[in-house]
Amino acid sequence: MDECRPLVCRRTVLRGLAVGGGMTTTGVLAACGGSGGGSSSSDALGATTDVAVGSATIFADQKVVVSQPTEGDFKAFSAVCTHNGCIVSTIEGEDIVCGCHGSRYSIADGSVLNGPAEKPLAPKQVSIDNDEIVLS
Ligand code: FES
Repeated sequence: MDECRPLVCRRTVLRGLAVGGGMTTTGVLAACGGSGGGSSSSDALGATTDVAVGSATIFADQKVVVSQPTEGDFKAFSAVCTHNGCIVSTIEGEDIVCGCHGSRYSIADGSVLNGPAEKPLAPKQVSIDNDEIVLS
């Protein structure tokens, strides 16, 4: 009996909002799904200020790493480690590091700095739109 408890609770809450709160189901869904981004593209990764010069940022949900080796020069790579498929986990200095087995990649071009990975991170295309990094 207890294993279904979270689902029951969620339904109860939604029903309470839809009926008791005077909202339509559409209203509830809009309230849940709205990101507040207005006309932002769904492929937007983040703001350019999220990526420091000489460093990189991992966008794990999108499996993308965006780097800025020099000011205004943004590069993007797949965050999937070419060794065994883990998502790279940290940025250390100018290295993109996979925590699974220690592979390191360059923020400049995604090349392998330290194995066991043998192939570079796959390049991705991004563009800058109003100071927002957008996956192409
Ligand atoms: S999966 Fe990344 S180093 Fe092994």
